[in-house]
Order: sequence, then C-alpha cells, then structure tokens
Amino acid sequence: MYGLVNQAVQDFVTQHHGADTWKTVREKAGVQDPEFLPLQQYPDALTFAMVGAACEATGRDAATLVEEIGVFWVTFTAQRGYGPLLAQLGTTFPEALAALDAMHVRVALMMPNLKPPSFRVRDVKPRSLTLDYISHRAGLAPLVIGLVKGLGHKYGLQPTVRLAHAREPGGTTDVFEVTW
Ligand code: HEM
Repeated sequence: MYGLVNQAVQDFVTQHHGADTWKTVREKAGVQDPEFLPLQQYPDALTFAMVGAACEATGRDAATLVEEIGVFWVTFTAQRGYGPLLAQLGTTFPEALAALDAMHVRVALMMPNLKPPSFRVRDVKPRSLTLDYISHRAGLAPLVIGLVKGLGHKYGLQPTVRLAHAREPGGTTDVFEVTW
C-alpha cells in the first residue's frame, strides 16, 4: 500500500498510545525506513505486520484497532491535503458513499499504482442503505466499518455499520447494512 496508509497507522499509534508504543511497534514489525513517504509503495505485508504489532503492544484486538484506524483515516487524510477531495464527495452521507469510487479514481491521479476497493450503494432508504465492498484484499471489513463511521461524522451523523454478509473464502465482496 502507499506510504500514506503506513503514516496513518504510525500517527494513530503515536497519538493514541504514545511515542514509546510506536517505537516498540516499528521494531516488532521490522520497519526499516526512518520515515514513510506518502507516495511510495510498500508491501501490504508491512502494513499488516504493523497492525499485528500494534495489537500486541496495546492489548487491543485486531478488529477494534483496525476500526479505530478507519475512523482516524478520515481526519488524517483531511489534514494531509485530501480535505477538498473529501469535501467534494457529496452534500449528503449516502451521496458521499456512492461517490467513493470516483474519489479513489482522483486519488489514483497522484498514486498511479493505487489498488483501490470498490463500493456499491443499493436499497437506499431515508435512514439506511446496503453497501457492497469489493476488494482483492482480505481482512479489511473492520476498516470499512471505521471508515464509514468516520465519514458519517463529517455529516454530523453517528452511523451504525453492521457486516451483514462476510465474503466467502476466495470471494471479494462484503455486504454492510448502514443506518443513521
Ligand atoms: C480523501 C480521502 C482518501 C484517500 C486519499 C484515500 C486513499 C487510499 C489509499 C492510498 C489506499 C491504499 C490502497 C493502495 O495503496 O493500493 C486506500 C485504500 C482504501 N480506501 Fe481509501 N482513501 C480515502 C478515503 C476513503 C474513504 C472515505 C473510504 C470509505 C468510506 C475509503 C476506503 C478504502 C478502503 C476500504 C481501502 C483498503 C484497500 C482495499 O480494500 O483493498 N477510502 N485509500
């Protein structure tokens, strides 16, 4: 993944658990570089190792920690120059969810090797919708839960996000019920 993601993990661990915890995490995960470059690609395995080490160091389970990083990501990217992209997502929360693929296409202008996920919004009702999440990466459903909650916060909402149907082994689609 692009270094921007690793920077978010680093900032999240440092801000929520302290610089000493981050030092432990980077050593355990075998982070070599003194700092991550946002537009450089790193192996996905490094990001996953950092999350694993952060769980060990903080005593939090992976699903909780990854969801928290998802919530953090929305404010983190806004501070790293991607605020306008997020602001232009849509005037309502469901509109924003429906515009995520178009947003990642714009991110890919800066990150040509981006392998973004894909989202499909269906069954839109006044206070709920169904969200399909399609990715070649497994294990990131808790991230989506945090991201969608974090995005909801931008609209003054506290959404509930429930994994309604987890992907089959070898599959690519998780289905979420989002209510607000
Ligand atoms: C402007 C803000 C955002 C930026 C700059 C951004 C950028 C990125 C980047 C760099 C990656 C790593 C992919 C790679 O390196 O191949 C990524 C992955 C991802 N993004 Fe975004 N993103 C943003 C907002 C969001 C939001 C709001 C959501 C969902 C609500 C989202 C959902 C995801 C997910 C689930 C992944 C994990 C990769 C996967 O599933 O395969 N992103 N994004």
